[in-house]
Amino acid sequence: DEIEKSGYPHFMLKEIFEQPRAIADCLRGRLDVKNHSVQLGGLTDVLDQLVNADRLVIAACGTSWHAGLVGEYLFEHLAKLPVEVEYASEFRYREPLIDENDVMLVISQSGETADTLAALRTAKERGALALGVCNVVGSTIARDTDAGVYTHAGPEIGVASTKAFTTQVSVLAMMAILLGQKRNTIEEEYAARLIEELNRIPDKVEQILDRSESVKEMAELFTYAPNFLYLGRTYNFPVALEGALKLKEISYIHAEGYPAAEMKHGPIALIDAMMPVVVIAATDHTNDKMISNIEEVKARKGRIIGITGEDNEEVINLSEFSCPIPETEDCLSPLLTSIPLQLLSYYIAVNRGCDVDQPRNLAKSVTVE
Ligand code: G6P
Repeated sequence: DEIEKSGYPHFMLKEIFEQPRAIADCLRGRLDVKNHSVQLGGLTDVLDQLVNADRLVIAACGTSWHAGLVGEYLFEHLAKLPVEVEYASEFRYREPLIDENDVMLVISQSGETADTLAALRTAKERGALALGVCNVVGSTIARDTDAGVYTHAGPEIGVASTKAFTTQVSVLAMMAILLGQKRNTIEEEYAARLIEELNRIPDKVEQILDRSESVKEMAELFTYAPNFLYLGRTYNFPVALEGALKLKEISYIHAEGYPAAEMKHGPIALIDAMMPVVVIAATDHTNDKMISNIEEVKARKGRIIGITGEDNEEVINLSEFSCPIPETEDCLSPLLTSIPLQLLSYYIAVNRGCDVDQPRNLAKSVTVE
């Protein structure tokens, strides 16, 4: 056990710090920066069908579902492909409207989640092409899909998913760029920029990890907060959900993720001097709106933790604490903004004496329905 943790006190921390390598492994051989192209060998045989699909339905559970939500924004933005993201457990018990013109994409780290497998089988019975994004090679879901892409994150032992999430989002970004190019919905110059930027993501993740000490210090101050609110917009709304989930899973603090604008329809009533609010403000075109959200929180004495671009002085100055992240393309920002949130939940859980790698009541892979 100790040897496998390579000197880290927990698998979760090891896996957080492995992300530059995990993402690099995931991208390896798939990005051609010089020729501005993406190759996903696992999809070659089904690419035409995927390019001509009417709709993509994404089904998953837990953290993988959050990756799916980022995927929705990516596919709609880059490939102009309508997407629906479903909780696998809901999809399977409805009478889902899905047919041979649709593509079902299931996302699963383990490839064994019972509800996700059932959603996949339901979609296949109705004639949809079934694709998978899995981490575990040869897993049941990987075998049951018609085609797919592995994340190549390496084994993930900590129950709370970290490197599986960032590699899932990396795969979805590559798929969306590839589809955008094939469907002619993405400008060549923009595709080239995204491919170059994806290639730089491992280094940028490394830069964020180099500043982990400051997240640790911040965690000291919030260790005993009873509640947390996470707010994000567009690509970073799923990151808000994921940040809140991480905190719940391992530190047992009640946390909610919300699209920032929805705050005024409920959560704003909870804000007072006891409420830390994590604001993920890393998408340019919603920056002004996020700044007004921050002001609304501050007017109620809420405490702002800002996750924002390192050049975004306005948000940094308005935040009580901030985690500046290197600048990147808006649609790739979840690959960076999710990192400080993983670290924050990890350090808080450790301070609270929680069993980080094996939180109570949770399983790494849920094979019951
Ligand atoms: C469990 C794990 C989560 C994971 C979810 C889906 O709840 O604790 O970390 O996100 O299952 O798992 P999968 O293997 O399908 O991605």
